[in-house]
Amino acid sequence: MSPLAGKERLLGLIKEIAAGNYSDEIMELTGPAYPTEIQELAEAVGMMMVKIEAREYYLEQLTETIKTNSLNTVTAVVNALGARDAYTEGHGERVSIYAERLARRLGLDEAEVERIRIAGMLHDIGKIGFSDLIFSNEDTHMNEDMLLEIRSHPQWGYDILRNLEFLGPSLDYVYAHHERLDGLGYPRGLVEPEIPMGARVLAVVDCFDAMTTNRPYQQGKTPQQALAILGSLAGKSLDPDVVDAFMVEIEDGGMVE
Ligand SMILES: [Fe+2]
Repeated sequence: MSPLAGKERLLGLIKEIAAGNYSDEIMELTGPAYPTEIQELAEAVGMMMVKIEAREYYLEQLTETIKTNSLNTVTAVVNALGARDAYTEGHGERVSIYAERLARRLGLDEAEVERIRIAGMLHDIGKIGFSDLIFSNEDTHMNEDMLLEIRSHPQWGYDILRNLEFLGPSLDYVYAHHERLDGLGYPRGLVEPEIPMGARVLAVVDCFDAMTTNRPYQQGKTPQQALAILGSLAGKSLDPDVVDAFMVEIEDGGMVE
């Protein structure tokens, strides 16, 4: 191997490494077929590459750990809400499971499925701002002030979560989970094209879980009854394609225990 060819190969490999394409090819240049100068340079570059790779791996792990910890912290706040309101307890978890299943059934990619699952877990976090009066109200009659408070919870949720950058589009799904296709939803009264798919998924499964849950003053509906009601809301408040997919999903996979 001529010294010039060795140098050229080394330079080519360094450029590759600089571009982020790590390979063990550099180690070949440390063999006796190459001049000592090339061998030493290749060894040094090889060592450098291994260290950079190790650091990159460490940073990736660290980023994942930070994300998981942040999510666990927010989930702890959601669980704190469960302690205030027995009905909400378990609702976030069930909604997140249904939302994940429905998102996958709709053929959304796995990253989007995960964003929808997270939004499901957090969707009602704004209820932490409700006054005790609302939590203790077991009668279905609500006065104007109480309705206003209830209709504010997606906005409060948005305000609580909006600085958590890692949530990305999940934040919009939380914000829009009570919007309706016909524009009669809250808090912003968005119309059909403005409502993201993640929020449409949440709207369907949130409704279903609310209807099928037993409360002190209300016996939960059967899944068949709840699905029939979802069917009657399709095209008005709920996205008909999402409702159809959810019907198939419940038929196939059943209810969350
Ligand atoms: Fe809600």
